[in-house]
Amino acid sequence: MKRTRIKEILQTTPTNQEMNVKGWVKTFRNNQFIALNDGSCNANLQVVVDFNSTPEEILKRITTGACISASGTLIASQGKGQTVELVCKNLEILGDSDAEKFPLQPKKHSLEFLREIAHLRFRTNTFGAVFRVRNALAFAVHKFFQERDFVYIHTPIITSSDAEGAGEMFHVTNFDIANPPKTENGEVDFKQDFFGKPTNLTVSGQLEGELAAMAFSDIYTFGPTFRAENSNTARHLAEFWMIEPEMAFYDLNDNMDLAEALLKYVIAYALEKCGDDIEFLSQRLLEEEKQKPQNERSEMTLVEKLKFCLENNFERITYTQAIDILKDSNHNKKKKFQYLVNEWGVDLQSEHERYLVEKHFKKPVILTDYPKNIKAFYMRQNDDGKTVRAMDILFPGIGEIVGGSQREERLEKLETRMKEMNIPAEELWWYLDTRRFGACPHAGFGLGFERLVLFVTGMTNIRDVIPFPRTPKNCEF
Ligand code: 4AD
Ligand code: MG
Repeated sequence: MKRTRIKEILQTTPTNQEMNVKGWVKTFRNNQFIALNDGSCNANLQVVVDFNSTPEEILKRITTGACISASGTLIASQGKGQTVELVCKNLEILGDSDAEKFPLQPKKHSLEFLREIAHLRFRTNTFGAVFRVRNALAFAVHKFFQERDFVYIHTPIITSSDAEGAGEMFHVTNFDIANPPKTENGEVDFKQDFFGKPTNLTVSGQLEGELAAMAFSDIYTFGPTFRAENSNTARHLAEFWMIEPEMAFYDLNDNMDLAEALLKYVIAYALEKCGDDIEFLSQRLLEEEKQKPQNERSEMTLVEKLKFCLENNFERITYTQAIDILKDSNHNKKKKFQYLVNEWGVDLQSEHERYLVEKHFKKPVILTDYPKNIKAFYMRQNDDGKTVRAMDILFPGIGEIVGGSQREERLEKLETRMKEMNIPAEELWWYLDTRRFGACPHAGFGLGFERLVLFVTGMTNIRDVIPFPRTPKNCEF
């Protein structure tokens, strides 16, 4: 008999039809009731075993974590808590699970503990929901861009450039690093390395994305990126996924409109496709926040927060306006910020971003026109000589979720800026070539995929929204 997924079974009207189901035992109660899950949805199927006709040997092996195959008839449930149940006629143990040793007991475990057993945490309610939502969001990203005729471009993982110019790169080499070949001057001789020069894992696909946009007009990337920044926070990963659209003929306003539309589209899609999972996560968050003092709890539930985000326009202000708001804020005057805001030109800390979003505007905010000195070399310079056409989108509970800009398409301005910032022009000759041959105004942005998943799932640590997080001093699994 062909297996039916539990999600489908739970939506079926029971008429004593014969069915087969396969999955993992969550609990086994009274030697009779199995709560079975196969990951197709959050809910379990109740499988009812007749303990009189089932051999003792088999009954003993129905333990939490065991994988089973059950065939029987689907009936309207006799008990409370479910509408249908499967009366089992034939039960097969596919994989035993020693109840004494299986780390996932049918009780509440801390997220920290579950991170240590990330190979098994997929089987919990919380992580089942998180990763189904993550899946829906990934699909929605592609759907959004494909519906708008953007071309999906695969940019390289191994590169020889630093797209952000921030020097936060993981090196790639096949040298024996304890003993690399040296030049006569005693320096490492990268000519002998695999690629004949120093290489690293990409920090962003943007520069290559720009090349493709100068042919296809509208492109996007969606792939892994790597940053060797030593920030051990709940918002940073060393390996994360980024979505980077790049559009010819867009200015910064077009860029902001697209980013806002993308965010709203994917959030709406997740709400529609994963309503049950998001409802579950919303309840989970309520429970979790009960541990906190009243004033630290969210004003809205997760579902309310997501809907609020869909229904309201994002606030758009310049960096300069934001600095004025922060300088004048009671928070600043009462020295409640760890980093006080005294002067124009400072980089915003996440406490400032969150103040603007959560306390001041109480909705997503897009900040534009940052000082050029705190932004990357490729951003379009404004006429004031001080600021660039940058935009960051700030989200409640998250801080920066999107970073982007209109790009500097004027060759001379770009070359001058690169010189000022010590970005080697000879390494980026190909990037500069696009400014020599058919340059045009263009813009793009990067959306941090895990930060998006954080927002939509209401989880609070970025390590809990990617299956196997890579962070400083941690690369298990
Ligand atoms: O602001 P960032 O560094 O911008 C870029 O990389 C540009 N090249 C994007 C572009 O214009 N095409 O990164 C973009 C986004 C951030 O807003 C954040 O959401 C996410 O990527 N991000 C991280 N997410 C998790 N862990 C990290 N270490 C991250 N660093 C950035
Ligand atoms: Mg940024």
